[in-house]
Parts: sequence; structure tokens; C-alpha cells
Amino acid sequence: MVEKLRARIEELKREKNAVILAHYYTRPEVQAVADFLGDSLALSIEARRTDARIILFAGVHFMAETAKVLCPDRKVLIPVREAGCSLAESCQGDAFRRFRALYPDHKVISYVNTSVEVKAQTDICCTSSNALKIVESIPADVPILFGPDRNLGRYVQRLSGRSNMVIWDGACAVHERFSSSGILQLKAEHPSAQVVAHPECPCEVVALADYTGSTAGILDYCGRSGTKEFIVATEAGIFRELERRCPEKAFIAAPTLDGRMPNECEDMKLATLERIVDCLERESPEVTIDEEVRRAAERSILRMIEVHG
Ligand code: 13P
Ligand code: SF4
Repeated sequence: MVEKLRARIEELKREKNAVILAHYYTRPEVQAVADFLGDSLALSIEARRTDARIILFAGVHFMAETAKVLCPDRKVLIPVREAGCSLAESCQGDAFRRFRALYPDHKVISYVNTSVEVKAQTDICCTSSNALKIVESIPADVPILFGPDRNLGRYVQRLSGRSNMVIWDGACAVHERFSSSGILQLKAEHPSAQVVAHPECPCEVVALADYTGSTAGILDYCGRSGTKEFIVATEAGIFRELERRCPEKAFIAAPTLDGRMPNECEDMKLATLERIVDCLERESPEVTIDEEVRRAAERSILRMIEVHG
């Protein structure tokens, strides 16, 4: 069955001149049919490079929206339109507009995990890979409004030593679940293991980490580190790529506060092979964006890409 679906997807990609971009948190079988697998920064950059007629985005809605912002002349498809993100949803466009109005002289930095309406009100976007670099690109005397992830915001604030930074109070429900006491207990059982964490984790989890970074950063770090065992505090989908790249190393999932194992982002798992076939066959659901909003959002993403290099 899986083989049949994979063959049909390959056929549809050729027939329709389509590429599949997938995030590391998607299902293993979905990652296996992707033409490009990456973190949110790499996927945004890749979306700009492709000359395919159709981009099918296996991920959550804000990611597919980012691809459409950067490639307005391409048809961008998402297998399940309802694939949302708790973090992006914690920051609605209207509420963000009211918040911004309180800080008119602040430069607005938004994490890419936001809707296009929030990006359109942003001076410069960032991802978890480049957030520090983006914050440091703003002159020290210019105050910053950072949104929507409070954990990433506090993390870069601590690294940059920036005191003139206001942070929106949003969070990712998946990363918020990791338990610092559970990690400490696991560390006692595995004394040689290193802890790697995504900066969306609570500060007390990040404080225990030997390495903190984006999904791509975690993959690179585990690959080049001499350590053989890691406790991993990010969404469970990353294990496929960790194990593929480092078959000789052991990866242990960090425990959660509610005992959930594996700790998965349900929205990231909505894309299945069946839904990808259906989406490519029907060329729907398609992501569409109002042109004025798209242009404003594009400016903030292109600024990020310029600074990131
Ligand atoms: P990355 O930027 O590391 O890909 O993370 C995206 C995300 O959704 C994290 O929860
Ligand atoms: Fe959003 Fe969290 Fe899922 Fe990432 S893991 S897509 S931030 S809900």
C-alpha cells in the first residue's frame, strides 16, 4: 500500500511539475517522499529557489503561507488546510496590531511561526536558527518588540544582553510540555548523555541543555559532537533524521510533564501519503493571500534572508 502511494506521488510530481517540501516534524513516510527536507529557515529559502509549477508543503499552515509569500507565481498546496500551529495561533493579527500600537518606536521582530497578517506588521522576521543574529542586527539603542514566542524571546534576550526588548507572551504547546525534572532524572540514569533542546522549550529546560538550537542546528550538533548519547527536547519527528544521519548514536526522547510519549505536534502529522496524493490530484487545497498583505509580509522575510546571508 505504502509503495503504491509513493509510486503515485512520484508519478504526480513528474506529471504536474511539482515538488514536495517537508519539515522534520512530519511523518517518516512523508519525509521519505520529500524533494527537500528542512527546518523552517531552509524551507523558506528552498521555496524561493525552486522553479516547479507546484509547491506542495508538508508542514503547518504558516510554513505553506511563507512559501506562497515568497513564490506568488507558484501554486502552493497544503494537504490539510487546518494544519495549524499553537504558537502562531497565540498571536492573532488584530491583537498584535493593538500590542504594536503601545510601542510605536520599537522595531518589530517576529518569529516565522506567525500568520501572514502578523508578518505584514513586522520589520524583520527570524527563525530559531538566526534569531540572535537578527536581534543583533538592530542597533543597541533601538528598542525591540519580539513575538510571539516568549521562550525564544527570553533565550535571545539572555544571549544578546538586550534589556530594551518587549516580548509577546506566546508559546508552543508541544515544546512547553518538556519537563526539566524529568530531564534531570534521565540525566542521572545516563550520565554521559548530552541534552539538546529547541529554544521554544521553557527556560528551565533550555538551562539544562548542552546545545540549544533549531531542528537543523540540533541535527548538525549531534552529527559533529563526539558524544554518543543524547536526550532530545524537541518534537519526535526529528528522530527519523537523527537516526538516519547518526546510526551509531543513541537518541532518547526527553520526558514531558504529562507523560506523553512520543511528544508530537499533531498538526504536523496531518499530512499523510493518502492526503498528499489527493491534494496533488485535485491541486487543492491551495494557499492564497491578499496581494497587499503578501507584499508587506514579503518585505519582512526578505530582510531576514538579507541579514542571514
Ligand atoms: P525550526 O525553525 O527549528 O524548523 O522549528 C519550527 C517549529 O515549528 C518548531 O516548533
Ligand atoms: Fe507550531 Fe509547536 Fe507544532 Fe512547531 S511544534 S508547528 S511551533 S505547534
